Amino acid sequence: MTVERKHSSFDVARVREDFPILKQLVYGKKPLVYLDNANTTQKPNAVIDAIHTYYTSYNSNVHRASHYLGSLADHAYEEGRRKVQGFLNARYFEEIVYVRNATEGINLVVQTWGRKNIQAGDEILVSAMEHHANIVPWQMLCQEKGAHLRVIPIDDNGEIVLEEYAKLLNPRVKLVGIVHISNALGTMNPVEKMIEMAHAQGIPVLLDGAQSAYHIPVDVQELDCDFFVFSGHKLYGPTGIGVLYGKRELLEEMPPWMGGGDMILTVSFDGTTYNDIPYRFEAGTPHIEGVIGLGAAIDYLQALGMESIAEYEAELMEYGTQVLADIPQLRMIGTAKNKASVFSFVLGDIHPQDTGMILDREGIAVRTGQHCAHPVMQRFKVPATVRASLACYNTREEIDALTQGLRKVITFMG
Ligand code: ALA
Repeated sequence: MTVERKHSSFDVARVREDFPILKQLVYGKKPLVYLDNANTTQKPNAVIDAIHTYYTSYNSNVHRASHYLGSLADHAYEEGRRKVQGFLNARYFEEIVYVRNATEGINLVVQTWGRKNIQAGDEILVSAMEHHANIVPWQMLCQEKGAHLRVIPIDDNGEIVLEEYAKLLNPRVKLVGIVHISNALGTMNPVEKMIEMAHAQGIPVLLDGAQSAYHIPVDVQELDCDFFVFSGHKLYGPTGIGVLYGKRELLEEMPPWMGGGDMILTVSFDGTTYNDIPYRFEAGTPHIEGVIGLGAAIDYLQALGMESIAEYEAELMEYGTQVLADIPQLRMIGTAKNKASVFSFVLGDIHPQDTGMILDREGIAVRTGQHCAHPVMQRFKVPATVRASLACYNTREEIDALTQGLRKVITFMG
């Protein structure tokens, strides 16, 4: 192995020390090269320890337990919300709603804001590179309401065609839903511009931030998006916890979706009054350990600095793009000018699943398939892709391991 090149402000060797899972040997012999980060990221000790401490020191329900442990858990839970507020630079604490994941965040908007505001003949705009989570809930709503889902086309590089987007914006459009960074292509969409264009016509915008929140700094006030969703497990935190950010004035007008404890103020058989935001949208005992783990992940990322992470990953991305271009059989799917560190590709006629299996025997974890983005595969006329997706702990050596692995695949299968 060559000596790891350190970015001026980013010591990747030091970062790797924080992730115990990265030290293991796959099948007992190959060092783990984990390149499936768009699927889920690994967890630093800080997150694992925070969850352990919760269960060993102050496990209790929140908002319901008036004892010592309960007050500690309450404090940690609401502190977690403050951390998310800071991480996204939301103006108000109440704008942060806990959900299970980005998918649930979008479904919440659809079931509350959508069911209240969408009528027959209305249009919802999404792009051709959305994850199913930002397609199917809207399709379901459109079916129920007699509304229409319109699709903003993408070009051969996997970039949104802005002129077509401009043409699709019209008074019937009631919401634009856009993926911030595509999980299947890596494209970083020009969301600032797109939000500005939608707002010029009074149309709110939802950003799917599942793939952006862990790669780049996100400032919801600067973006001026109306809704933003992300999942904790992609942000080096636990599974089962996610966030919906919504502008306060929008959330306040939204009816609840799930009924139960905590989302109410009073209940009688004559009727129920609902709690204020964000609690109105958090029925039942929440994922307390998830909130605590997510808070620890945010602390960890802020200590590293999202700017430094973005800069380091951009360097890796550039390096990976260069070395993968040396493999003639490799066709990159997604060649946008602005891209996050995602390499989605096909290797000649070799089935992506075969590639994935051979890489796996080399200790290299990638995702193969359609990445919950069937329309992207249809757009590029491929049945599936191999996807190597990077995180802040990946190295150039790991990209070299990937290219060597791919050459082996070509030798075996080509
Ligand atoms: N987990 C999904 C992916 O791998 C979103 O892209």
